[in-house]
Amino acid sequence: MDETRHVEEIADSVYWVGARDWDRKTFDAFIPLPQGTTYNAYLVKGREHTALIDTVNPGFWKQLHEKVDKVDSLKNLRYLVMNHAEPDHASAVPYVMGESPDATLVTTAKGAKMAKLYSKVPDGRILVVKDGDAIDLGGKTLAFIEAPWLHWPETMFTYLPEDRVLFSCDYFGAHTAFGMYDDENEGLLSLAKRYYGEIMMPFGKPGQKALEKIEPLDIRVLAPSHGPVYRNPGKIVDEYRRWTAGETKEKAIVAFVSMWGTTDRMAKAMAEALANDGIEVCVFNLQGADVGDIARELVDARALVLGSPTVLGGLHPLAAYAASLVKVLRPPLKYAAFLGSYGWGGGAARQALELLGPLRIDVVGAVDINGPADGEAMGKVADLARALSAKIKGATGATARTAESIA
Ligand code: FEO
Repeated sequence: MDETRHVEEIADSVYWVGARDWDRKTFDAFIPLPQGTTYNAYLVKGREHTALIDTVNPGFWKQLHEKVDKVDSLKNLRYLVMNHAEPDHASAVPYVMGESPDATLVTTAKGAKMAKLYSKVPDGRILVVKDGDAIDLGGKTLAFIEAPWLHWPETMFTYLPEDRVLFSCDYFGAHTAFGMYDDENEGLLSLAKRYYGEIMMPFGKPGQKALEKIEPLDIRVLAPSHGPVYRNPGKIVDEYRRWTAGETKEKAIVAFVSMWGTTDRMAKAMAEALANDGIEVCVFNLQGADVGDIARELVDARALVLGSPTVLGGLHPLAAYAASLVKVLRPPLKYAAFLGSYGWGGGAARQALELLGPLRIDVVGAVDINGPADGEAMGKVADLARALSAKIKGATGATARTAESIA
């Protein structure tokens, strides 16, 4: 069998006609993809009409065309549903509209603007839909659910009530090319969490609203546009409820970079002390750490310890990058602390506070030492670990040391 032309019937007359991208190494030009990804598109065949739900990334248009033609003919397409206008799902819109003379593009009002701008689809070939609208394919109904900001402002879901299939585009996705269905990828939950951290975490509130909207639906198959199709959707929906609610665990991330070993020693002492207190600790040496792994742990970590020496009056660039990542991903962190060292002039701690301060994270304290990590310095690290641990565990009376402990 030519695997790249595999078509899967995921529900009655509903076919996966997407593409597997085994070779893609990063998403958004910075998130590593250890297992590649998929661009899932689905063909829904009713008695009278056929609809294609989303398309594929550039480079996979022909593959999409060939797969659709295995089930029907692309020329016969009546509707092209665009749940999301980002090019990994909508790049083939102009191609499909060109190949399908009778097709109408179905999207939200904001999606229509994007379709006109990016895909040059004329007004006369666009059907704008909103919550409660539906189209009848003949024994198959496509019902539309506006789900903005998941992950752009125009996003929506499409629900097929006869077969209880929800096409959620980016939402509930995972970057992996492994497995057609959720139960065929053992590590899927971790990958889905990583994806959530990278893509959806900044949109927790819109995510909660979308979950409320789909609550009444009896979903049997959850068909996102990246990664496997869920034929057991309950668990991932439950996880999304927790993640979007910003539930954190007694868990800390220690992310550090060190040039001559001083910050390394402090960071590891902090990690040991927290772990000894029963706190789950994830340690990332920022030299070579996988950004996706950090994003995954940020989903439910309660605290971040950032470690960096001072380099030319500020944070080491890798630590500055990690702090910027926290800023853009908007994790539900409650507490932070800083560890650092310098030889002749500080500055890293100040910059760390400037970056983390406006994020509504309680900065519990900082230890920024001049010179080697001697006994006195390690004593300060131990004090800070105790204060942070108490905060993480929700204890009262912890000593918050902020600006005054910064050199
Ligand atoms: Fe998978 Fe927002 O595109």
